[in-house]
Formats: sequence, C-alpha cells, structure tokens
Amino acid sequence: MVIFGASGDLTRRKLIPALYNLASQGLLSREFAVVGVARNPMTTEEARHKLTEDFKQFATGTIDQDLWEWFVRHFYYVAGDFDDPTTYDKLKETLAGADKDHATHENYFFYLATAPDYFGDIVERLAKVGLMTEENSHWRRVIIEKPFGHDLDTAKALNQQLLKVVRETQIYRIDHYLGKETVQNILALRFANGIFEPIWNRRYIDHVQISVAETVGVEKRGGYYDTAGALRDMVPNHIMQLITLTAMEPPISFEANAVRDEQAKILHAIQPFTSEDVLSKTVRGQYGEGTMNSQRVPAYRTEEGVPPESRTETFVAMKLLIDNWRWAGVPFYLRTGKRLPGRNTHVVIQFRRAPFMLFRETQVQDLMPNQLVLHIQPEEGISLRFAAKTPGTTMRLGEVDMDFEYSDYFGATPSTGYERLLHDCMIGDATLFQRADMVEAGWSVVNPVLDVWKALPPRNFPNYPAGAWGPKESDELLERDGRRWRNFEK
Ligand code: BG6
Repeated sequence: MVIFGASGDLTRRKLIPALYNLASQGLLSREFAVVGVARNPMTTEEARHKLTEDFKQFATGTIDQDLWEWFVRHFYYVAGDFDDPTTYDKLKETLAGADKDHATHENYFFYLATAPDYFGDIVERLAKVGLMTEENSHWRRVIIEKPFGHDLDTAKALNQQLLKVVRETQIYRIDHYLGKETVQNILALRFANGIFEPIWNRRYIDHVQISVAETVGVEKRGGYYDTAGALRDMVPNHIMQLITLTAMEPPISFEANAVRDEQAKILHAIQPFTSEDVLSKTVRGQYGEGTMNSQRVPAYRTEEGVPPESRTETFVAMKLLIDNWRWAGVPFYLRTGKRLPGRNTHVVIQFRRAPFMLFRETQVQDLMPNQLVLHIQPEEGISLRFAAKTPGTTMRLGEVDMDFEYSDYFGATPSTGYERLLHDCMIGDATLFQRADMVEAGWSVVNPVLDVWKALPPRNFPNYPAGAWGPKESDELLERDGRRWRNFEK
C-alpha cells in the first residue's frame, strides 16, 4: 500500500490505525508493506519513529507491542513533491525493495490522501512510470476519496483524466459512509429478512426522512468548507448512499456490479429539479451565533478561514421524488447541517396511517403513524414505533418504541470505519466503492440546485442560530405536506 499524503491527518487518524486493526484481526497478509509518500524531508527511520508516536495517540484500542513492531518494520518512507518526477523514481525503487523484503508480488494499491487537486496528476505520473500497469497477474489499484470534482463538469473531467491512463476497475472511490456497519446493515435488514420487503413500497410507505445532523461547526476546515458548502460536502456522496441503499431494488447477486447497478438506477430515477422546484423543494441555511450545551458558540461567518460576508450554506434540506414503480409519489425528505442540536444520522421510514380508527376517543389523525427508524450514528440500532393500549379501564392508545441496539447483541470492536474498505480494496471487492457513473449521477441530482443557488444568492444569512434544527423553512417544507421531521437530540 502506498499512501500519498502520509504525513497528513487522514493517515494518522484513520489509515494507520485501520491497518493495525486489520493486522490484529489476522486480516493483513504477512506479505505486506506500506510506503508513505509526503513532502517532509525524513528518512524511513525517522518516519517510523513519528508513526509510532502518532499511533500512541490514535490507536483505537490497546497496542500489542510485538505486532506494532512487526508493522513498523514493514513501513517505508519516500520524501518528495507529488509533481516531481524523481519522487516516482524513488517510489519505484522503494517498492522494488519492499517486494524483495516482504514478497509483496508487485501488487500495489495507492491511497491518495492528498488535496483533490492532485488526484489526476498523481495517477498520470504513476501510469507514466509503469506503476499502474497490470501484467504478469499482478494488480494495481488506486483509492481516492471525495470530493470527486466540484460539480458535474469537474467530476466528469476528473473521471476522464483518470480513465485515460487506468481502467475503471482499477479505481476505488471511497465514500466513508459505506464503511459504517449500520449503513451496510440497511442491505441486511432489507434483503435478509422476509417481513420488510413486501411492505417496502409506495403502497405502505408514506414518506422517508434522512437526516445527517452534526453538532460541530466547521472546525479547522473553514477554508475548504467555504468553497464547498453543505450541499456539495454531504449530499451527492454520503446522503446519496443512504438514499440508494434504502430505495434500491434487490440486486440479483451480491457481486459488485450487480449491487452498484441497482444503486445507479435509483440515482437516475431521482426526478430532476427544475428551477421552480429548487425554489419550492430546497432550503438552505447558515448558522449564526447561538447556544449549545449552555455555551455560546460563534457564527459561521466568524469561524477561522471563513470570510465575514460568506454566503456558503451550512444547512440544506430538500424533497426528492424517485420516479419508478416502487416509489412513485413517496417523498424522500433529506437534511443535513452543522451546529444542529444533536449529532444524529438516521433514516425514518414512515408508514401510512391505519385507514380507520376503531377505538373510542381517538382520531386517526391524532395517532402517530408507524415509523421504522434506522439509527446510523451515534446510536447504532433500529427502532419501530407503534400504537399500544395505555393501561386503564377505557381503550386509549399511546405510542411505544421497540428498540434494538447493535451493541446489546454483537458488542463493539473499536474501529476507524476504514478497515472494511481497505481490506475490500486489497481483495479486489469493489461493491462498496463508487463507479464513475454513480458519482456523475449523484452530481446530476444536485447540479440544478447549485446553479439556481448561485444565480440567486441568499439574502437572509445567517438564518438559524447554532443549536437549532436549521431555518424555519426546513420545518415548513414538511408542514406544507402535512408532515414533520422526527428529531433526535441525544
Ligand atoms: C465528511 C464531511 O465527508 O463527512 C464533513 O466533509 C462531515 O463535513 C463528515 O463532518 C461527517 O462524517 P461522519 O462520519 O462524522 O458522519
């Protein structure tokens, strides 16, 4: 494994701890080595020392000293600029050495933990020196992580640039949401159980809500975030994963393309927004100063790296429709934002109401319809809300929740969320990675929104205080349809 950007945060916090966790589960081949590439001038010895220091801070559990020492002996470092041809010559030499020392069979995968501007260039340079050529039955793969472009055109341009020098099957586009157990579990819930699929359609489902709520602000990423905004940062990628897994047809097998074909079909079936739709079915917001956990927190516009007049959105809500037989007429409401009252990602499937109310003193419209909630994080579980009789001599109804929590059943092995994805790339399973067409289809959904928002800059920002569930227009989006968001504040 070659990591470009080896001295960065992702490597330190996620990639190295994930590799170590794989090693401790016996999932890392003995014939394995890591080569870090970064600008900092350091020798391999110095880099190993730094790696050890960082690991003490970011390990997800207790460290087995022998295993760590084994791991460190398999780590090499190449110092150099990503746009300097000699870096690639040095890398080739180091890889040849690692092949000899650890019998890595010339199978390489390159993780580009760099700024996205480098993706195309690094892959071209790797191809130029022959490091992307698959021959004599060895494999060469490259992992990149969002942002894949800034909009539809730039995403297409990036795909074209990559596909000029490598094949689509060599590209592994990571979406870290697919590394989450609970996200993968949407498939298990739907397709490994007989009771859900028959009612998973427009006949029984009233609407779907997807919320990805964060309590954090933009932290130290103001510079990046201000050029992206909540829509680009979360919707064409993470939220589209949640939509496609929730809405897709059962694939004919669990083979990578069978699953991804079904996901892609959903992306293509999302009804395109007209300009009028953008005005009536999307909401944008930016947080102002507010109070969270009894602490004053600053407005987005005063965060580090953010211009004081910024018009970048930190909240987005929208209503989507999926034009196919299963979902025609069933709205998918989604929202995501920073500085909301709870950190909570969930999918709410709201079923239709009981058609007629048998019980005295209860109106059908007073009863909360059944909801199945897939809790993605921080709680990991599934809950079902239904009506039950409240104790007493008369027939009165109340709402109850039947809760399942993963941790009660399976315990939790600490992980970074990258273990499965790295392992899948090593074994050549691309199921959880994005194909070029999926990335472009995701951008196609949001592109009309980006265009209209750009043409009509917001006049009312900031329009929600930190610590609120977004601007009031977000609630109104559902209220107009006689519905409301389910909020989890924990
Ligand atoms: C990242 C976004 O992709 O996902 C961040 O750039 C966001 O802005 C993060 O905070 C959310 O990930 P998670 O795993 O914390 O839900």
